[in-house]
Order: sequence, then structure tokens, then C-alpha cells
Amino acid sequence: MSDDADGRRRFLATVTVGGSGVLAAGMLVPAVPYVLDPLLRDAGAGDGSADAPFVRLARLDALPTREPRRLPVIGDAVDAWTRATGRVLGSVWARRAGERVTVLSTICPHLGCPIGPSEDGRGFACPCHTSLFAADGSRVSGPSPRGMDPLPVRVRDGVVEVRWQRFRQGTAEREVVGDASRACAAVRSRRA
Ligand code: FES
Repeated sequence: MSDDADGRRRFLATVTVGGSGVLAAGMLVPAVPYVLDPLLRDAGAGDGSADAPFVRLARLDALPTREPRRLPVIGDAVDAWTRATGRVLGSVWARRAGERVTVLSTICPHLGCPIGPSEDGRGFACPCHTSLFAADGSRVSGPSPRGMDPLPVRVRDGVVEVRWQRFRQGTAEREVVGDASRACAAVRSRRA
């Protein structure tokens, strides 16, 4: 076979491979924004992250003073590629003292069971492994490695707003794990 024929064959092979590459890259470009969308999107209330937006909890004057009240947290549940609005993300214990409100997550720091009132009515208890917490959420006894998790709260125009966050379970140190919980936020929040 002549050198000319070999050269032509190599040239055609190069053009074919190069052209296919350019064509494939051109087809992939429109898909890039779709794939990156979850990473570029603003945090939703339901992603449980440190910078999740505040969501409405209740009117301040609707909260009894001193007595804790369990309230649902309603906001947008964020999944990897979807966002569902008006979902129950979880629940909290809210306590008002005058104009000040403290809000504690109902999710037990041990393994995530929902925390309810203690039998004596003075604090809180987790029914799964009998962890006890004081009225301010501090740990009293049981396997929970830390006290109940407080959530950022603010009062605006008479409305109490909370930032829904999720924390790492089973550790003494409190750490927000919003992104890690993102994909399952809607499912796990139903347990709270
Ligand atoms: S999950 Fe609450 S004590 Fe274990």
C-alpha cells in the first residue's frame, strides 16, 4: 500500500474521531446547567442547612408564656432536583418568655426519635432509649450525647420565624448537616 493511501486513511480517521468528539461535546453542553442545577440553586427551608431561610412558625401572641408548645415547621422540601412547597418539614418545641422565644428541635440527638414531654411535665423525654432533657433542652440522663438542638429564631412584626436545621446524630458536638440530609429531608422529617 502506498504512502499516499496510508496518509489519506490517517487523515480521514483523525477527522472522523475529532468530529465525533466535537459533536458529542456539543450535545453535552445543554445538559450541564441541568446537572449542576441542584448545586447552584439557593438553599430551601427543607434542606436543613446552616443557611436555610427562616420560615414562619406562629404568631408571637398565639404562644402561651412559659409553657412549651409543639409546632410543625412548614416550608419547601428540597430534594436533589425537586422542590415541594408547603410541606411539613418537621416539628419543634417553642417556648415563649415575654418577647423572647426559644425553639428546640424535636429530633433526638441520639438516633433521631421524636422528643416529647417528660412524664413529670418538667422537661422533655425521648421514648426510644429514655433520654431525659431539662426544660431548657439540656441533657439530664440517657444515651443522648448532648442536649436538644436549639434552632435559630427571630420575631418579625409579631411573627415567630425559625431556621429549620438538621444536626449530626450521635455526637457530643453539635454540627449542622444540612447538605447531607438534603436528599431524604422530606422522608425523615415525617418522623420528627
Ligand atoms: S433516639 Fe432518643 S434516646 Fe435514643
